[in-house]
Amino acid sequence: MNEVKRHISIFDTTLRDGEQAPGAALQFEQKLLLADKLVRLGVDVLEPGFPVSSPGEFEAVQRISRLYPQVEVCGFARAVRGDIDAAVKATADAAKRRIHLFISASDIHLTHQLRMTRAEVKQRTREMVAYARQFVDCVEFSAMDATRAEQSYLAELVEAAIEEGAGIINLPDTVGYAMPHEFGEMFRFVRREARGAENVCFSAHCHNDLGLAVANSLAAIEAGANQIEVTVNGVGERTGNCALEELVMALDTRKDYWQLETNVRMEHLYEVSRSVSRMMHMPIAFNKPVVGRNAFQHESGIHQDGLLKNRNTYEIMDPVRLGIPHELIVLGKHSGRHAIKHKVSQYGIELNADQLNDVYDRFKQFADNQKVVTDQQLLTCVGEALDQE
Ligand code: KIV
Ligand code: ZN
Repeated sequence: MNEVKRHISIFDTTLRDGEQAPGAALQFEQKLLLADKLVRLGVDVLEPGFPVSSPGEFEAVQRISRLYPQVEVCGFARAVRGDIDAAVKATADAAKRRIHLFISASDIHLTHQLRMTRAEVKQRTREMVAYARQFVDCVEFSAMDATRAEQSYLAELVEAAIEEGAGIINLPDTVGYAMPHEFGEMFRFVRREARGAENVCFSAHCHNDLGLAVANSLAAIEAGANQIEVTVNGVGERTGNCALEELVMALDTRKDYWQLETNVRMEHLYEVSRSVSRMMHMPIAFNKPVVGRNAFQHESGIHQDGLLKNRNTYEIMDPVRLGIPHELIVLGKHSGRHAIKHKVSQYGIELNADQLNDVYDRFKQFADNQKVVTDQQLLTCVGEALDQE
């Protein structure tokens, strides 16, 4: 009998938090194009923008709300009436919708940014969650900078939001400060301490300042979070957010451990990643996990030899499943005879042992002076070697 696996809801904020990356602003049409790709990718919740922030943002959220009944569309708002009104209006035509409202929870933010006391923030949370709940069934409450907040106060704030009808509680690591064990512990603590926590869904929203956004999101899943907020390629403020493709592939590649499922259709990952990179003018690092140029390329002779015998020797994911055009072998100074023979045979040329040795010597001279040897250059070596005979 097939066991029903716990589902992790993928909340995509590429078009809101992702767009907050410096220089990443999208034009209206680009936003619509990316929304379409994200829906096809299979995200569960789409946060297409911040409706109150500009007429263009409002219109983009409104248009996306009308186009995609298959996803839940989320309107982002500060805990103030004007923002909530704009989010409610922009998402009015969505088949499934949510208002996502946030307020800071840490004393650092309360003192220096909001200039409010803890009691005032709690009161505002109550009023604004209740206000939003008049218009929509689903309210997500985010306690901004949760990881630097005093934890008992955080639990009180969450309890207040739940009492007023918030159905999703998001605990963001706004400045990417937490260590994975601390982040998981925060979820356990709040889920234990806040009354009503057993009736709501917990969500994690991690930033990547210390390179821990994916690890922290996984720690939150272990501690009971069922929704993870992500962006494609990890784009976002400063060093960005939890990368969608990394999180999804960590869950999928190690499903033996996690026993969880998402709705993401892996075969679209690569294409969506390239589109986001192109439209946001944010190049992808060559060594970026999952979608970087080098993620499935192998230069060393030992690795190439292993791969030619069995791909599992040095690959833990199948690039074909991710829609990645796959060039297994990159020739360079570390490459060996096996790889050269394999590459040449792709051009229909079979070399005997002497010919291969000759090509190999010529190839090495080439390779010492450049980073990679192109197929054309290899074929020149082959031509020269065969001409010598
Ligand atoms: O990083 C953050 O805290 C956020 C929230 C307001 C969800 O983007
Ligand atoms: Zn954020």
